[in-house]
Amino acid sequence: MMRILNFGSLNVDKIYSVDHLVKSGETIKAFRYKECCGGKGLNQSIALARAGAMVCHAGSVGNDGGELLTMLEDAEVSTSYIKISDKPSGHAIIQVDSMGQNNIIIYGGANNDITTEYMDEVFSLFCRDDILLLQNEISNVDYAILKAKESGMKVVLNPSPINEELVNYHLECVDCFILNEIEGKILAGIESEHPEEIIKNLKENFPKAAFVLTLGINGSYYFDQNQTVFQKIYQTDTVDTTGAGDTFCGYFLSCMAAGNEIREALEISSMASAIAVSQAGAAPSIPERRNVLHKLKCWDKELGEEHGTKI
Ligand code: RIB
Repeated sequence: MMRILNFGSLNVDKIYSVDHLVKSGETIKAFRYKECCGGKGLNQSIALARAGAMVCHAGSVGNDGGELLTMLEDAEVSTSYIKISDKPSGHAIIQVDSMGQNNIIIYGGANNDITTEYMDEVFSLFCRDDILLLQNEISNVDYAILKAKESGMKVVLNPSPINEELVNYHLECVDCFILNEIEGKILAGIESEHPEEIIKNLKENFPKAAFVLTLGINGSYYFDQNQTVFQKIYQTDTVDTTGAGDTFCGYFLSCMAAGNEIREALEISSMASAIAVSQAGAAPSIPERRNVLHKLKCWDKELGEEHGTKI
C-alpha cells in the first residue's frame, strides 16, 4: 500500500466560543473555553487515516505534546518519526462565533524547530512510491518540497496559511495543490475572485500540476490540463468550520491514493467536510469513512424527492 508522509504542524487548539469575533480595540467575554488537538498537519493526518490511508506523520512537539501523539496513535497514524523538541508544542488561539465562523492565531513553538538535518533523516526512509503532504505551518517547507522531488516522491501542497514566503517556494515541483479561493487567487497572481479566472491562471502558472480548489459554500473543483470536475456542497447546520478544509484535504488525498475516481473522491471529501462543520472542534470533528459513506447513501436515497435536505 502506498504510504503518505505528512510533514506537518501539531497544535494545541485553545478554542473560545464567542457571540461575535472580537474587533480591534474591543474586549469581549467568551462563553465557553475548550482545548483540543489541532494543527493543519495533525488534522490532515487524522483525516487521511480516518479515510483509510496509511499515514506517517513527521513533525515536532514539545515535552507537553503527549496528547497530540496519543490522538494520532489512536487514529492509527504512525508517530515514530515525530521529534520531541525543547520548545513548547505549537498552539492556536481560535475564536468561534455563533455562526460557526472563526479566526485563528497560531504560535509555531516546536513546529518551527524542524531542521533540514531532521528532514534528511526522515526522507531517507521514504521512496518514489510514497507521497509527501505539506501545509505551511512548519519550518523548512521549501526544503521538504525539493528533498521529496529529489527522492522521486509525489508532492501535495496545501498552501495554508499562505504568506509572501510561500509564493517564492519551488512550487513548480508541486504535483498537486489543494487550496481555497484566497490561496488560489494569490497563486494565480490575480485580483479577481471568479473561479474561472483563478482556474485559468493557475493552469497557466503551473502547467504540470493538478488542483483541488475549495470554495466554501460554493463547492469545489478538481482540475488539471485535461479535465475540470465540479462538486457542490452537502448542506448542513454550521456549528464550527475549523478543520473543514483539513478534512477535505485528507479525505481527497486518501481517496486518490486508494484509486477512487475524481468525481467519487470529491463527493466523499465534500460529505466528510460537511459532517466536520456540523460538529465542534478541528480534529475531534473529523468523521470515520464508514460514517461518510453511510451519509452519502442516505443522501442518494433522498435525492429524488428532497434535493437539498440537511444531513
Ligand atoms: O485548519 C485548522 C487548524 O489551523 C487548527 O486546528 C489550528 O491549529 C490551525 O493550525
